[in-house]
Amino acid sequence: MKTLITNIKELVQVRETSVEKVSGEAMKILPTLKNAFLILKDDLILDFGLMADMPKIHVDKTIDASGKIVLPTWCDSHTHIVYAGNREQEFIDRINGLSYEEIANRGGGILNSAKKLQEISEDDLYLQSSKRLEEVMKLGTGAVEIKSGYGLTKEAELKMLRVIKKLRKNYPIEIKATFLAAHAIPTEYKNNVSKYLDIVINEILPIVAEENLAEFIDVFCETGYFSVEDTERVLSAAKKYGLIPKIHVNQFTAIGGVQIGVQYNALSVDHLEVMRGEDIQILKKSNTMPVALPLCSYFLSIPYTPARKMIDAGLPLAIATDFNPGSTPSGNMNQVVSAACIKMKMTPEEAINAATINAVYAMNLQNTHGSITKGKKANVIITKEIPSIGYLAYAFGSNCIESVLINGILVK
Ligand code: NIG
Ligand code: FE
Repeated sequence: MKTLITNIKELVQVRETSVEKVSGEAMKILPTLKNAFLILKDDLILDFGLMADMPKIHVDKTIDASGKIVLPTWCDSHTHIVYAGNREQEFIDRINGLSYEEIANRGGGILNSAKKLQEISEDDLYLQSSKRLEEVMKLGTGAVEIKSGYGLTKEAELKMLRVIKKLRKNYPIEIKATFLAAHAIPTEYKNNVSKYLDIVINEILPIVAEENLAEFIDVFCETGYFSVEDTERVLSAAKKYGLIPKIHVNQFTAIGGVQIGVQYNALSVDHLEVMRGEDIQILKKSNTMPVALPLCSYFLSIPYTPARKMIDAGLPLAIATDFNPGSTPSGNMNQVVSAACIKMKMTPEEAINAATINAVYAMNLQNTHGSITKGKKANVIITKEIPSIGYLAYAFGSNCIESVLINGILVK
């Protein structure tokens, strides 16, 4: 099956050869072709170029993209899409003055979601999660990472990971799974974190590895959650099974999470709302991708990751949603791109690089996703008629997407 997209006003993120990631100054450069064509063959990109050079070939379907922009689908490298129920009461409690920490300390927060998740059936959990997945696909996401971490018991963590596996089987979108049992300390282990970690490491992790339920390992390294020592324990155990770290660090406090991530060769360190000079320096000497989650900052009214400072220091940066019921009940990557521009002062070019090229690096998909490159997946967003790339970020309340193709097939 061949699909030809013609008269594309601007074809965005065109890379003749795949680049691994873009850092510092290079983030400002977003290569595009004006008045272009794109040919998709089955699930892959076959060819692209200027309309003037379009080959005469037989195709099964032609889409006229006059006045429209075409770009690779977003890659969302940090989500918690598999969860049960919602937490709008905590949202209201925060409006009325309670802080995220205060809510967590009285058994709300992650423990509230864990209780709901432990009680729900696997089928219902799948149903709720699949609706969210379908929603983000329509919003232009073509690859997504999903974490466990609302189970906090062996049964419930495995239930989450099996749901992720089933989603991967049933949907065309690329899904990567992350094991995050060290997300919060269950109440019964409040005074014995190490006992909980014994269970995570000795009882759950071996099954996760044996059943191939996750590629990545995550820990919420934060004051009141897991210490740097706890984090190191989990990362070191997971390393023996070949799980790659992608960890939650520096959300509320900087306690050395970035350092331990880099030391364990983390693929990414995520959140980074609180960044010290030394955290930036350590990242500069590493292959670890920093990931900002601006909708989490927006929803919780906490500081934004200092993107300008980090990019100007020469670092790469990826952006993701953090879609979850507590800190970011949104999986809309278009809003992430807008918020990165509006609140973190990234240019639209930097934000699009952060949501595509650098995002795929943060989920080990740089060979198949994230750019318009021959042989990569036929995953594209076709916008409505819009004036420019900058408009995508500027029109923050509008849905600028006309259609989304994943593996060459229209998302309905
Ligand atoms: O990435 N920070 C840790 N975990 C999630 C939020 C979890 C929740 O509140 O349910 C996050 O923001
Ligand atoms: Fe998160």
